[in-house]
Amino acid sequence: MMMNRNLLSAADLSRDQAVEILDIAEGMADVNDREIKKLPTLRGKTVVNLFFEDSTRTRISFELAAKRLSADVINFSAKGSSVSKGESLKDTAQTLEAMGADAVVIRHGASGAANVLAHSGWINGAIVNAGDGTHEHPTQALLDAFTMRKRLHGKASAGRSLDGVKVAIVGDILHSRVARSNLLLLNTLGAEVHFVAPPTLLPANASNMKATLHYSLDEVLENETPEVVMMLRVQAERMNASYFPSEREYARIWGFNADRLAKLKPGAMVMHPGPMNRGLEIDAISADSPQSTVLGQVANGVSVRMAVLFSVLSGERANHVN
Ligand code: NCD
Repeated sequence: MMMNRNLLSAADLSRDQAVEILDIAEGMADVNDREIKKLPTLRGKTVVNLFFEDSTRTRISFELAAKRLSADVINFSAKGSSVSKGESLKDTAQTLEAMGADAVVIRHGASGAANVLAHSGWINGAIVNAGDGTHEHPTQALLDAFTMRKRLHGKASAGRSLDGVKVAIVGDILHSRVARSNLLLLNTLGAEVHFVAPPTLLPANASNMKATLHYSLDEVLENETPEVVMMLRVQAERMNASYFPSEREYARIWGFNADRLAKLKPGAMVMHPGPMNRGLEIDAISADSPQSTVLGQVANGVSVRMAVLFSVLSGERANHVN
C-alpha cells in the first residue's frame, strides 16, 4: 500500500494505512525481542530529531527506532543550538536539508510547526510530527492503539482494528495533543471515544468532536464500563489560569486511584502517555498495577516508531529530486 511521505496528523492515515502501520510494528516488536535488535532497512539514511520542546520518552524512542533500523541519527535540541541565538526555523531547516536529512522528526511548542515545515519547501525529506503545541502527536496515538490492540487481542492482533472498543480519555483534554490525535485515530479504527474532564478542561468545540462528553469519571466507569481508561497529564506548563480549585480536588474527582481501579471490568487497562504526575491524575497503586500499560506503552513506542520511519522512508519518493 502507498504510504504517505509525511506523518503530520493522525487524520493523515486511512483505516487500512493505520492497520498496516500497526501490523508492521508487530514485526518490529519481534525484532525488539531478539538478542540482536537490528535491521539493515534504513542503512545510509539520515534521520534528524529536531526537538524544540523538552522530551524524554519521545526523543529517545525515535532515536532508538532509527538506530535499530540502521539509520544515522542526529539529535538536535533547541537548547544549546543556534536557535537559542535567534536562528529561525527556516534557517535551521535549510541547514538540515544541506546536510542531507532524509527524515526530520520535529517536536515544537507551536501548534502547526510540523505542517509549516512540511509545506515550506525548505526540506525535501519526510516530516514526522513528534508533538506540536496542543495540536497533535500522531505517533503517540499509534503506539496507544498498538498497545490496546495487543492487550485486547494478543497474538491475534494482526490485521485488526479497534471496532467497538470503548475508550475513556480523562483529564486535561484542552491542552492535550495526545487526546486530539487519539480521538482522530480511534475514530478511524472504529473505537468509541468518551471524553471525561472538568468543563474548564474541555476544548470549546468539544461538542462538535466525535466523542461523548462526561464530567464524572465515576459515572463513566460504572455506566460505560470502558475497556480502556487513558489518563492525561495535567499540563501545568500550558495553563495560564486556574482551571480547577486545587490539586487535591482534582485528584479526588478526576484522578485515577485504587477505588476506581477496582471498578474496572476484567481485562480493562489504564493508560498514561507519561510523564505522570503521581498523586495528581493517577495514584501510585494504579500506575504500578498489572492493569497499567504505562511501561508497555514506552516499549511499544519504539516498535511503532520503527514502523513509521520505515513507512515514510521506504515509500515512493516521487517528490525527492536530489
Ligand atoms: C506527551 C506529550 O509530550 O505530548 N508525552 C509524550 O509524548 N510521552 C504527553 C504529555 O506531555 O503529557
